[in-house]
Amino acid sequence: MTVAPGPRVAVVTGAAQGIGAAVVDALRADGLAVVGLDLRANDTGDEATAVLACDVSDPVQLRTVIDGIGERYGRIDVLVSNAALGSHTLPDDLVADEFDRVLRTNIGGCFFGAQAAARWMTAGGSIVSLSSIAGTSALGRGNLAYSISKAAIDGLTRELAVEWAPRGIRVNAVAPCQVSTPGFVPLLTDRTLDHGTVGTRMLAGIPMGRYAEPHEIAAAVAFLASPAAAFITGVVLPVDGGNLALNPGGTVGAPR
Ligand SMILES: NC(=O)c1ccc[n+]([C@@H]2O[C@H](COP(=O)([O-])OP(=O)(O)OC[C@H]3O[C@@H](n4cnc5c(N)ncnc54)[C@H](O)[C@@H]3O)[C@@H](O)[C@H]2O)c1
Repeated sequence: MTVAPGPRVAVVTGAAQGIGAAVVDALRADGLAVVGLDLRANDTGDEATAVLACDVSDPVQLRTVIDGIGERYGRIDVLVSNAALGSHTLPDDLVADEFDRVLRTNIGGCFFGAQAAARWMTAGGSIVSLSSIAGTSALGRGNLAYSISKAAIDGLTRELAVEWAPRGIRVNAVAPCQVSTPGFVPLLTDRTLDHGTVGTRMLAGIPMGRYAEPHEIAAAVAFLASPAAAFITGVVLPVDGGNLALNPGGTVGAPR
């Protein structure tokens, strides 16, 4: 199949800060032309740094914006679905409105983004979604809507990988533990979460003893997006300092 000449083209959602911004930097360093999308547009007037306005929870808007990028560049090679909403409402208090908003943003954003971008991946491509350790093991403290959205992303990753393998479109996900981002750091001083002790609890679950940095997550995303991962599809890759390897009753580095 013929694709427009030029560098590979990537679309990254939730690109204004945190992991999304780090992914934009990593993909640009790999030589891709990257278009960032976010609720908070950042019109720098420079195509190389601008972040376009897009609400990923709106499938029609997402399709329109992605089609605009496809028409502008003639191709899309990589989609990183990173935009997401957190939720910290206990199951007894969770109302339909919040439940819908979280699932529509986190699952719908990934699925309808993939559906729109895949139409432009005529010569194959790579889709990487941001899952979480919460998709595999339960966090409690009101994470229900968030956690089931991430578990759904893991399922979506496997389903799309199988459906689209014959078209050369690889579909993978990265599952971070806690990452030092503007979305995460305020939780450490939120006294409604475990009475302010949530940071101690979270660190105890990470054998490497620290939170991840955004660039460490972005490096895994860039790898999965790259030709180096040409035979990897349907995978949910933990980037979690050993969090998912650790049994809650296990001991990290037992003294001899
Ligand atoms: N930070 C962590 O500890 C952590 C851990 C595991 C997984 N993750 C996942 O990594 C991804 C990024 O996390 P982060 O901490 O960098 O997030 P963040 O909250 O710092 O930034 C998220 C960005 O997404 C944008 N966004 C939110 N809703 C949107 C929408 N409807 N449409 C478009 N943009 C929208 C926000 O404006 C923001 O710029 C998320 O999918 C998150 O669930 C984060």
